Amino acid sequence: MSQATTKTLPNSPDQRFLPPVFSGVAKIVAKERYRNFCRLTFRCPEIAAKAQPGQFVNLYLDGLGTETSFERSSLPMAVILPRPFSVAKIVPLKKGVIQSDDPQAFSVLFDIRGTGTNWLAQLTTDVPVRVSGPLGKGFWLPEGTKTAVLVAGGLGIAPFPFLAERLKAQGVETILLLGAKTKDKLPFDPVRAEFPLLRNGKPLSYWGVDEFESIGVRSAIALEEPEDGFFAGTVTQLFEAWLSTQKELDGTAVYGCGPTQMLKVLTQLAQSYGLHCQVSLEERMGCGIGICFGCPIPVKSGGYRLCCTDGPVFDASELAL
Ligand SMILES: Cc1cc2nc3c(=O)[nH]c(=O)nc-3n(C[C@H](O)[C@H](O)[C@H](O)COP(=O)(O)OP(=O)(O)OC[C@H]3O[C@@H](n4cnc5c(N)ncnc54)[C@H](O)[C@@H]3O)c2cc1C
Ligand code: FES
Repeated sequence: MSQATTKTLPNSPDQRFLPPVFSGVAKIVAKERYRNFCRLTFRCPEIAAKAQPGQFVNLYLDGLGTETSFERSSLPMAVILPRPFSVAKIVPLKKGVIQSDDPQAFSVLFDIRGTGTNWLAQLTTDVPVRVSGPLGKGFWLPEGTKTAVLVAGGLGIAPFPFLAERLKAQGVETILLLGAKTKDKLPFDPVRAEFPLLRNGKPLSYWGVDEFESIGVRSAIALEEPEDGFFAGTVTQLFEAWLSTQKELDGTAVYGCGPTQMLKVLTQLAQSYGLHCQVSLEERMGCGIGICFGCPIPVKSGGYRLCCTDGPVFDASELAL
């Protein structure tokens, strides 16, 4: 069994460990805002060097050092609680410019929903934000995995750019399937897939995701409201269609992230094909470090696990979703 390092994925859930948590201030070095999404990149070598795919960071909304800070004495509970976000990517920086292979920054990708995400989305570069991480336990790579299928429902794609990079670096063939209700709900702009996934000689989707295609990950997109060139249906239907084209599934592992109902269907599908499946869960969190017991996840063996410290990534077969 190979030894996991911070640059490789562990081979089993037991090899995952909670690294020392950095808690401090990180400056925003890049910001992209498009449609209802925002990507923020923070300069933070402490987190960038240690994070593993599937781990998350807590961003605090107290506006430390910013003109837009909330008045501390009037902070409502909803503002005091940090907001958890998956580490989407590790970004090498040199003098603030992305160019060296030294991991100094990390990015998060989020949907602008409520108080916290609206506040974060109006911050600009150079603004310091209080952050802690890396938190939780991430994905692992079971021995003998030859193909990894990443199945994302909407913003569930957030942890996958980081995971896909690591899988590719470890020589695993990686496929990304992304689903959304409509085209404008896609968290990435679609591009023509270079090597589309085929069924009966025809592409399942002519469209893929640039961020993945550019690192050699074949991708396909499902839209629930049909559009020309896209797979028509849910992402789990797309996954089922892909499964039906496979003669050999030995050594295939499935990684899922998205709404709970989607993960439930994905788990059932993976089980019916005898495939190993890991899912990353989004439970409402308080502390994010195992203290408040606010993020219980029911498991089949009875009782609960904590999403923040036992997960957010779990072996799907253990969960009572
Ligand atoms: C481990 C983990 C990783 C996540 N990664 C991402 C990511 O990469 N991108 C992304 O867009 N979202 C992610 N989420 C969900 C994200 O944390 C919420 O969208 C965000 O906290 C909403 O904050 P808000 O103040 O805008 O919403 P509000 O509704 O105003 O939030 C009120 C409270 O509810 C909590 N909350 C609201 N929605 C969620 C939710 N879906 N999950 C958990 N807590 C929620 C907030 O943290 C806050 O404490 C993740 C959640 C978890 C648990
Ligand atoms: S969020 Fe506090 S224990 Fe998990």
